[in-house]
Amino acid sequence: MRPTRFAERFSKKTGILELMDDLGRAMERGGDMRMLGGGNPAHIPEVNEIWRERTAQILANGAELEETLANYDTPQGKLAFLDSLADLMNREFGWNLSARNIAITNGSQTGFFLLLNLLSGTGTDGVMNRVLFPLCPEYIGYADQAVEPGALLSRRATIELIGDHFFKYHVDFTELDPADDVAALCVSRPTNPTGNVLTDDEVRRLAGIAAAKDIPFVIDNAYGAPFPHILFKDVEPYWDKNVILTMSLSKLGLPAVRTGIIIAAEEVIKAVSACNAVISLANGSVGQVLVRPLIESGDILRLSREIIMPFYRRRSQQAVESLVGAFGEDVDFRIHEREGSIFLWLWLPELPVSSAELYERLKQRGVLVVSGHYFFYGLDDPWRHAGECLRLSYAQDPMKFQEAAQIIADEVRRIRSEA
Ligand SMILES: Cc1ncc(COP(=O)(O)O)c(C=O)c1O
Repeated sequence: MRPTRFAERFSKKTGILELMDDLGRAMERGGDMRMLGGGNPAHIPEVNEIWRERTAQILANGAELEETLANYDTPQGKLAFLDSLADLMNREFGWNLSARNIAITNGSQTGFFLLLNLLSGTGTDGVMNRVLFPLCPEYIGYADQAVEPGALLSRRATIELIGDHFFKYHVDFTELDPADDVAALCVSRPTNPTGNVLTDDEVRRLAGIAAAKDIPFVIDNAYGAPFPHILFKDVEPYWDKNVILTMSLSKLGLPAVRTGIIIAAEEVIKAVSACNAVISLANGSVGQVLVRPLIESGDILRLSREIIMPFYRRRSQQAVESLVGAFGEDVDFRIHEREGSIFLWLWLPELPVSSAELYERLKQRGVLVVSGHYFFYGLDDPWRHAGECLRLSYAQDPMKFQEAAQIIADEVRRIRSEA
């Protein structure tokens, strides 16, 4: 293979590659690894039972099986699925959507590759366009997706200290001030990696800034309402004609069906659908066929609010107890407020080694985490805080999380005593 710019850009070692490689190996091989890395959702028995029943129904019904496996969808997605999703969002939130406002992608990761490159890069007028992430740290999966270097910018969050061991990030509106090269704002809400949920006020202010500049505001709703609803506080979902809202079937417990959803103005949906045709012809149908009856009946809301959300809320509580118990009072640590998603974000102030080195040391001891530094990209200046954090998933076995918390605390004590 000759070295091309594309190969150089997309085949290098990235955080998301390290994370997904660790994840895939740990999930497939199992073994003694305590898996707090990657973002694999939990296997919730009640939820898996629903997928089992739906799969059996599809297998029993010849026409549905053929619809699932033997036809290409349109590049926009399965029209019946798009209709049923538009109805659900309109019923739930009073939005005025039609199927023309929705497109399916091969997972929302692919959706973001399309969106970030539709929105950023050199314009037809020759002028550079950038996407601004108003609250850094932000999702690792966006960091390497822009085709053109320098297309992604971020602003540091401000830090509110809460009690002795907790904290919360906020958008620093005094520093936000998007310049003319900013062509879109983008946030994940709930935020991966921190479990933060931007307040209604923050979202409305960001939407106002985007509208005033006539640029899209992308809200990544992979963990949000109405499904999978991994939200531990009451917030208003937000959409307006300027907003590009993304969703996914992954955190419902279906990451392997690779189904992402984009809800946006018709011109955005047309652009995404055209890209889908060029890149994939059409996307996978299985997720859409599995989930459509739950969307039509509204059962997806009950499943999300009564099973999935309480499951993760319990797990997050157990995870905090494990960490607080393991660290005790002799080690300086802080945990981000638990407001949603499937992660705890651990801050180790003044950590004497980098979080990347701590990741390596923990891996040697059978604990997989994600080093926090990958979530700080697009910043103007280096920020010491970027090397002091770890992302810990609490989706897997709580006993393993507890063992892992003991090992993390022990390793941090060891590092501090060596310093
Ligand atoms: C915030 C966020 N956005 C997007 C994705 C991509 O999800 P998928 O491609 O599985 O739909 C993830 C996955 O972890 C995520 O956490």
